[in-house]
Amino acid sequence: MCGIVGYIGKKEVKDILVDGLRELEYRGYDSAGIAVLQDDEIKSYKAVGKLKNLEDKTKDFASDGLAMGIGHTRWATHGKPTELNAHPHLGEFSYVVHNGIIENYQELKSSLQKDGVKFLSQTDTEVIVHLFEKNYKELNDPMSAFEKTIDTLHGAYAVLLITKVDPEKIYFAKHGSPMIVGNDDKGDIHFGSSDAALIGKATEVIYLDDGDYGYTSQEGISIFFDKEKKALNKRALTGDKISAQKGGFRFFMEKEIYEQGEVLSDTIIGRVLDEKINFEELHESFFDGIDEIKICACGTSYNSGLACAYLFERQAKIKTVVEIASEFRYKEPLMTKNTLFVVISQSGETADTLEALKMAKRAGLKTLAICNVDNSSIVRLADHTILARAGIEKGVASTKAFATQVMAMWMLSIYVAQIKNTMSKDEIKSELNAMRHIPNAVIVSDKLHEKIKRLSKRYLHGHGFFFIGRDMFFPLALEGALKLKEISYLHAEGYPAGEMKHGPIALADSELFTIALMPKTLHYDKVKSNVEELSARDSTILAISPLEFELADDFIKTTHCEHPMSEFFEMMVITQLLALEVSVRLGNDVDMPRNLAKSVTVE
Ligand code: AGP
Repeated sequence: MCGIVGYIGKKEVKDILVDGLRELEYRGYDSAGIAVLQDDEIKSYKAVGKLKNLEDKTKDFASDGLAMGIGHTRWATHGKPTELNAHPHLGEFSYVVHNGIIENYQELKSSLQKDGVKFLSQTDTEVIVHLFEKNYKELNDPMSAFEKTIDTLHGAYAVLLITKVDPEKIYFAKHGSPMIVGNDDKGDIHFGSSDAALIGKATEVIYLDDGDYGYTSQEGISIFFDKEKKALNKRALTGDKISAQKGGFRFFMEKEIYEQGEVLSDTIIGRVLDEKINFEELHESFFDGIDEIKICACGTSYNSGLACAYLFERQAKIKTVVEIASEFRYKEPLMTKNTLFVVISQSGETADTLEALKMAKRAGLKTLAICNVDNSSIVRLADHTILARAGIEKGVASTKAFATQVMAMWMLSIYVAQIKNTMSKDEIKSELNAMRHIPNAVIVSDKLHEKIKRLSKRYLHGHGFFFIGRDMFFPLALEGALKLKEISYLHAEGYPAGEMKHGPIALADSELFTIALMPKTLHYDKVKSNVEELSARDSTILAISPLEFELADDFIKTTHCEHPMSEFFEMMVITQLLALEVSVRLGNDVDMPRNLAKSVTVE
């Protein structure tokens, strides 16, 4: 999730831009840059790593009088975190910054290269500035050229562009990625990909809608939609930075639950193609000689691996074993060269997972990381990495990282199935179609959230919770139990539904709460009978299912039941919200629960 800022005015542009980018640091980044246009000259500075490196590079630069500038913090999606790949990206006489993913960038890039355009970076973004300049040379009008450029882009984008051929304006466009434009009481213009960057600067803002584009200058803001000029829907801007970073939510964890649709869309863009899965980060030959997968991780990342092991075996017909990293390290494991060693980590810094990866490397295994932080220790060590693209996750209790890990490995299971020819083209297309619908399946409706808020009051005591499920809903039950434990401090266990009668059912009574995951598409009747056993012994049942279950004390009806994975993701959101609302009622610190750290970098 990149950060974007822009400014037109007489204040020191560099300071305004860097300060705005600093307010966006919470979104996570691995490089940053600015470009300033003044007196027909554009100066640009870029740096890998933290903003301080960019400030060091710009310390001798100052704007004097009216100027305009754009700035960017980059979270790598296409191309490694290098200075060349950092934004802004330069054409001959224009600069651009961009957040999102241009799905058709490869065909645009090839066409521009055929016209002799030289690309410096590996990014999708760079096509925007070259396309603009090609269109300008043909149309000889910056606005028409910008309009034609935006019409050509497919995918998600928030764009700012400055150009010497129109040195009074910043051009902008928004589709699928957030962009806000505002002004202060002196008429200075401010842009931000989050209002956190505008607080203390702009007094009025406009939250741009998908399809909005236009330009700003000292004369004001002009917004167009489908070539028609739009009225300016300005609103006052809050003064509280932290609440702005939370985007109006009570907690970062709550915001991150609501963000899952957006980040899952980011995770699949450029990877879920019309008829197949494609990973830019991988080549099919990487799987030569591989006939087993070993997944190693901790906590929530272990749960996502456990869930996806079912998919690797069911769809890619490849033996898959999942291990807790802290156990794996000391069990003197057998490792064979035909095994692909996969580590999963949100932070990329978890000590146990990192050490397990080192063991696999020493044993000569091929290694792959599923990670959310580019340039982290695990990413730098693994042979290849599939980035989860969840954006920075501030809540200690992981939510959107788990969701994007599962999505990434679901895609990987299909990718391996393609290589090993274990699925028909129709079966693969059916999976791809299901993937495209997942961002919808995780949308949190007010009705659902209100219902969970209400029923959570009944789950604040008791002597414990069983989260139960079958197949890949068992790892989801583990994850639901972990979420509840982490932020409510109540005891909860995830269990295979079929295991109840092998001992745990001895705990059943009215003070034992059973959260039953009852998908329609996987073993419904089996789970139903397991839940009936618990209900018969007076356990209090919260059933989560698309099918009515009359024995439930509480019932949450799900709606996305066209595919096991849409049921998985919808139930995932419900268990996340349940943990959140129980924790809120208990008055706990949802974002920073006691005894926990966001990244466990020690044993
Ligand atoms: C998840 O809610 C926990 N915060 C914790 O279990 C976490 O998943 C675990 O520490 C692994 O972290 P990682 O994904 O960064 O490696």
